[in-house]
Amino acid sequence: MAGSTHPLFESLGTDRAAAPVVIVIFGASGDLTSRKLMPALHALMAGDRLCPATAVVGVGRSELSDDHFRERMRKAVDEAGPVDERAWEALAAGLRYVAGGYDDEKTYQRLEEVLSELDQRIGTGGNRLYYLSTPPGVFATAVRRLGRQGLHRPARGGQFARVVIEKPFGRDLDSALELDRDLHEVLDEDQIYRIDHYLGKETVQNVLALRFSNLIFEPVWNRRYVDSVQITVAESSGVGHRAGFYEEAGALRDIVQNHLLQVLALMAMEPPASMSPKGIRDEKVKALEAVDILSPAKVATETVRGQYRQGWLGGEEVPGYLDEPDVAPNSHTETYVAMRLRVDNWRWSGVPFYLRTGKRLPKRVTEVALRFNAVPHLPFAPTQATGLGPNALVLRIQPDEGITLRFGAKVPGQAFDVRSVSMDFSYGAAFLEEPPEAYERLLHDAVVGDPTLFIRTDEVEQAWRIVQPLLDAWADDPAPPLPYAAGTWGPERADELLADDGREWRRP
Ligand code: BG6
Repeated sequence: MAGSTHPLFESLGTDRAAAPVVIVIFGASGDLTSRKLMPALHALMAGDRLCPATAVVGVGRSELSDDHFRERMRKAVDEAGPVDERAWEALAAGLRYVAGGYDDEKTYQRLEEVLSELDQRIGTGGNRLYYLSTPPGVFATAVRRLGRQGLHRPARGGQFARVVIEKPFGRDLDSALELDRDLHEVLDEDQIYRIDHYLGKETVQNVLALRFSNLIFEPVWNRRYVDSVQITVAESSGVGHRAGFYEEAGALRDIVQNHLLQVLALMAMEPPASMSPKGIRDEKVKALEAVDILSPAKVATETVRGQYRQGWLGGEEVPGYLDEPDVAPNSHTETYVAMRLRVDNWRWSGVPFYLRTGKRLPKRVTEVALRFNAVPHLPFAPTQATGLGPNALVLRIQPDEGITLRFGAKVPGQAFDVRSVSMDFSYGAAFLEEPPEAYERLLHDAVVGDPTLFIRTDEVEQAWRIVQPLLDAWADDPAPPLPYAAGTWGPERADELLADDGREWRRP
């Protein structure tokens, strides 16, 4: 066994060779392509994780020549960090651009010509990976057009044609189901890779490693020992220049439906028999299916929505949401959500899961914290234990990636006082290896055909079922979201939500 991968972790192994492929990015003139996708492809090529016979075609509505697109992509790679010239040359040789409307047959005819030419010139072997990084309204159209042109199957000699779909996958349960039906008219489920970049984060994957490669955590990972779970995705940034998108989304669709519920699923799931895509995703779905769906009445008592007002962050005054560019003056879009969920199964019955996310909170931090029950009997006088809090295990997803365990220790001195202390694991200090960017990991997985870290159709559907009652209740609610000052931890009502249970939010 020495040196080989434990069978549990086999499918998430590292020695997976990428086949020749053309990666076609729809929405190539957009922000995500420059900020994330192209730098990730460059890093993969530099690390020899892509086959040299890899070509990249951008598709977009902007009129760009191949040269102009290549210049833009070079700039994107430059801005991301030091450039490996050998890797860049390899990518640049196969970089092409196709301009056109996403619903225009001619776009797909031109794309087909370019793909055949690349198969011949670069040797991409008929394999295709389409990446839909367009506005969501385009997903179904683009896939339908690919189907009509016969591009949804590998070309001659090829092994695969896969489609990566960016979030948001639908805007509610019905539209997600409809989108799924549209995609399945053309594609098989094993061709569809629904991306959630949180699953590409090392520390999110580490939830699986922590839980399932150690003996000491799993025995206490249940209702007998865990008092409550808190999952926080806090951002200090505001909506920036993305109001066009955000006004339609809000924090519930933008973060809760996907990132937060995905992290919850990993925390709550049962141990899989193997790390196979099916093994992992079956267990995640089961965990999501155990989440209690809130009734309309419960939405009022179990959830809080807020919207930031003008405030101070990092010594600077920042505007309120309603004063951000392109935000409607009477917008009810929520920039903060907190909620109490129950996972109704044998493991978690009675353990509240508190979830929160927001923009313009005091700092950018994502973490998961398990708070443990108190010991059955404390053999100290109350005065000796004033500094003792509950045991807690905190998984710091970002930044300052690591894990903290809080436990009681004796304060040095003649008295027998006990106080909480922390034992810290820090990724930066423990490992020399640089973690790959989330998109690097996920693009590579999509190229090699490993869907483990992508969202399956039943997962996405269940996640929408969980948030749908909130969407409905808030759409019918004439009251605006509760205000909170930028630079604070959200509306007071969110504190009351936990205070009702005799608990409080962590202040990371
Ligand atoms: C995106 C959301 O999915 O995630 C953004 O659309 C959010 O609004 C971002 O800022 C947060 O991602 P990260 O990786 O910075 O935590």
